[in-house]
Amino acid sequence: MATLMKRKTKTLIVIFIISVILSLKFPYEIEEEERARREKLEKEEKRFSVFLQRESATSSPGGVVSSSFELHGLEYDFYRQKCAQAESIVRSTMARIYLQQNDISFGLLRLLFHDCFIKGCDASVFLDDRNGNKNHSIERQAAPNKSLRGLDEIETIKEELDNACPGVVSCADTLALATRDAIVLAGGPFYPVFTGRRDSTESYFDEAMDEIPKPNDNITRTLFLFSRRGFDERETVNLLGAHNVGKINCDFIQNRFTNFSGTGQPDASIDPDFLNELRFACQDSNSTNDDGTVASMTSREMRNSSSAMIFQRLSASIPSGARFDNHYYQNLLRGRGLLFVDQQLMADENTARFVRGYASDDGTTFRRDFSRSMVKMSNTGVLTGTRGQVRNKCSLPSANLE
Ligand code: HEM
Repeated sequence: MATLMKRKTKTLIVIFIISVILSLKFPYEIEEEERARREKLEKEEKRFSVFLQRESATSSPGGVVSSSFELHGLEYDFYRQKCAQAESIVRSTMARIYLQQNDISFGLLRLLFHDCFIKGCDASVFLDDRNGNKNHSIERQAAPNKSLRGLDEIETIKEELDNACPGVVSCADTLALATRDAIVLAGGPFYPVFTGRRDSTESYFDEAMDEIPKPNDNITRTLFLFSRRGFDERETVNLLGAHNVGKINCDFIQNRFTNFSGTGQPDASIDPDFLNELRFACQDSNSTNDDGTVASMTSREMRNSSSAMIFQRLSASIPSGARFDNHYYQNLLRGRGLLFVDQQLMADENTARFVRGYASDDGTTFRRDFSRSMVKMSNTGVLTGTRGQVRNKCSLPSANLE
């Protein structure tokens, strides 16, 4: 009997060891998978870039499609000769950063928007050109930029690039490529990033104060600011869909709770149940989980935040694997937009029509348009050729202009 038991145990141990060995992936298999994934992305990028160039040649002038695809002097794989490994360095460093901090994608997306919106995608938001003069105001200190995240992470990627190819890749390209890669890592849609951007020599504090849209702007002001950068109504509604991810500080919504715009009442465009959820989440320094349930803030969030933060997924249900979906628009239909500016998309019949459109399918239309809008955003007002410079450290202008 004892021998039988011993034999059974031995067999079980052998089976266990074999199954563990079989379930292990050998390093070369992982490398193979990574290589296949990279090749697939590169093929997709080439196919998309050919498609974009064909579209831009055939679409009607001024149409949504054609205006999205202007390249403004940028090129496909601009660094192929001077730093062939540039894009893979950005991708692998971004992946390493993402592993440690997976909400960095949302910080970068917002950072790119704030950079591109002010005088174009020229990395001006990074500059600290005060040269010791404390009274000189810089763009990154403008009120809307104070809570930007991701500047240090871009410096890290830029350092890696400069170790391989000193002074070749601009900070503006580093930000554009890293943001795309970060969005893909977070489950967002892929889009091609053409390169050749150069960095500005100036920082634009006043423009950042005046022209970055504000959380309490009405729809007229929002459409005006976006149209000045060449975005039409559909693209504006689409880009604001970026608010389907990330987090938002309660400071930006507190004014909606009481005496909104001097009315003595809360903001009438908020759904009453949602208003209570928001008040509760903010006043108790709680946050909501991805599935929309209210939970205590994590200690990391407490450390990073002077006041309560809430995630922008309050009433969302998460489709498995995909984080970039259209719940933002579905929430707007129910008066559950977090910022006043978000809910304002329902205040204008034209923008509301696009909200309903994006809310009506499984998110495919939003994601497809978002790829296009991001190509256009990433190409806004770029400096190419001999304009601008390539900085070494993104926060410092290069002393020697080429
Ligand atoms: C009318 C236009 C917009 C306004 C007024 C606005 C305002 C804001 C505000 C106040 C926050 C919260 C920031 C914080 O709590 O620190 C935020 C977050 C965010 N915004 Fe916007 N935004 C606008 C458009 C956009 C666009 C066009 C994008 C990108 C395409 C974008 C991407 C994001 C992202 C990803 C976050 C989360 C950031 C994070 O988690 O760190 N926003 N926005």
